[in-house]
Amino acid sequence: MIDERILRPDLLRKIVTAEQAAQFIQDGMVVGSSGFTKAGDSKAVLLALAERAKQDPLKITLITGASLGQDTDAALAGSHALSRRMPFQVDPVLRKSINNGEVMFIDHHLCETVEQLQNRHLPPMDIAVIEATLIEEDGSLVPTTSVGNSAHFAALAQKVIVEVNLSMPLTLCGLHDIFLTGGYPNRSIIPITSPSTRIGRASIPIDPEKIVAVVITEIHDSPAQIVPPDEKTTAIASHLLEFFNHEVRMGRLKESLLPLQAGIGKVANAVLSGFLDSSFHDLTMYSEVLQDSTFELFDAGKMTFASASSITVSEACYARIMKDFNRYKNKIVLRPQNISNSPEVIRRMGVIGINTAIEFDLYGNVNSTHIGGTKMMNGIGGSGDFARNAFLSIFVTQAASKENTISHVLPMVSHVDHTEHDVDILVTDQGLADLRGLAPRERADIILQHCVHPEYRDALKDYSDRARKRGGHTPHVLEEAFSWHTRLAEHGTMKA
Ligand code: COA
Repeated sequence: MIDERILRPDLLRKIVTAEQAAQFIQDGMVVGSSGFTKAGDSKAVLLALAERAKQDPLKITLITGASLGQDTDAALAGSHALSRRMPFQVDPVLRKSINNGEVMFIDHHLCETVEQLQNRHLPPMDIAVIEATLIEEDGSLVPTTSVGNSAHFAALAQKVIVEVNLSMPLTLCGLHDIFLTGGYPNRSIIPITSPSTRIGRASIPIDPEKIVAVVITEIHDSPAQIVPPDEKTTAIASHLLEFFNHEVRMGRLKESLLPLQAGIGKVANAVLSGFLDSSFHDLTMYSEVLQDSTFELFDAGKMTFASASSITVSEACYARIMKDFNRYKNKIVLRPQNISNSPEVIRRMGVIGINTAIEFDLYGNVNSTHIGGTKMMNGIGGSGDFARNAFLSIFVTQAASKENTISHVLPMVSHVDHTEHDVDILVTDQGLADLRGLAPRERADIILQHCVHPEYRDALKDYSDRARKRGGHTPHVLEEAFSWHTRLAEHGTMKA
């Protein structure tokens, strides 16, 4: 079985345990790891390192594609092994270490991390751990369920540890499209003109001399927690589908729409599932993550092709698609994340970006990352890559949460990730605001009319009216702009 997976015989001699491989990682190193939204991550070596750090304290900079599974970030943060972490995470233990100042977290646009490594804006990478389905005869690596930043890590790291995962079906071979952008100043275009365009090779090229250890695993990806659609997510999905129908009637879109990008989480999943019972057809995706809903749309014959950087699905969906991957293989491609999230390609194809906001304000500025303006939640992820360059940039959130003590529509956001200039459409369970072509005062009117929870509508209207009396292109009562946040912190509710 192992011979089938490691086709270069000299690498068979480099097979070691995860603990032995982790010995290559030393205090102070910059370490790269495969892994994007819990898929295709290191499942053994980083956990062995976290265990070792309990007895033998060390601190590393860890750079990944996006979030890791297997509670690896929790294990590393728990054993104080992280000094710096980038570009994205979703782990509650690590989140705590970030917010108490122990771990320096650098919240990157997901398309930019390898650009910064490649251009030496970041320190050089000492070692990378990359999960593979198979090592080819020339040493090149066939990734597993994500590509993330692995191709660039293989090129840029001084040493590489490969985790060959025997649980990944060999039918994954041929799924990936590996294209490395060259350096400046003579960089070539990324010639993708539709989600299905293939421009690269099926495996990650690597100098085999760099591979210092090979570890064998059989561990599955951590499953995505799929929350079934509820009243609010269903309402958001139905407002959005109604909007798409309107755009078709107006002749701005066809029933196949344009390539869709959908962020992680229950709202995005509910929106995509909503297409199942709609008249839309021949849909495509140019996204970062493929979730359960993508496969449901394939099965229903509604979607024809999906391009992404990872496949992150529930346990049931994982078991189903891995058993018969050939069924989906010609409908999917996985790419490096600086290609899946490339501004150039997103703009060229006219991608429709649907992402989730933590909160937004009267004028359309969006906070995707910070709770109460100070505490990091997850990170900006790819939302900015898409929002800035999309054909339509859509943000969704519930109008209010926690028994309506928190309004997600506010006088001013406590942190800005996406400015008013990058946001076209805002949707809550209350309704949809189409901000295209509107000036700030007009945007405020339409957001007040359609998006705010009824329990906050009068208060926000009152703020807006008083702000207008003071004048300005974007009127505010500055001394009051954050009062909803301070009231929540002091009294446990945003209500006056
Ligand atoms: N004060 C305190 N808590 C607040 C708050 C505030 N001002 N505003 C929101 N919250 C809480 C909510 O009540 C909720 O808490 P809960 O989890 O205890 O219920 C939580 O913050 C947000 O959760 P929810 O509204 O359920 O959103 P979500 O789980 O769908 O995630 C993001 C929303 C924005 C955190 C998530 O989509 C994200 O990380 N986005 C950035 C990355 C991204 O967009 N990637 C896209 C490409 S993959």
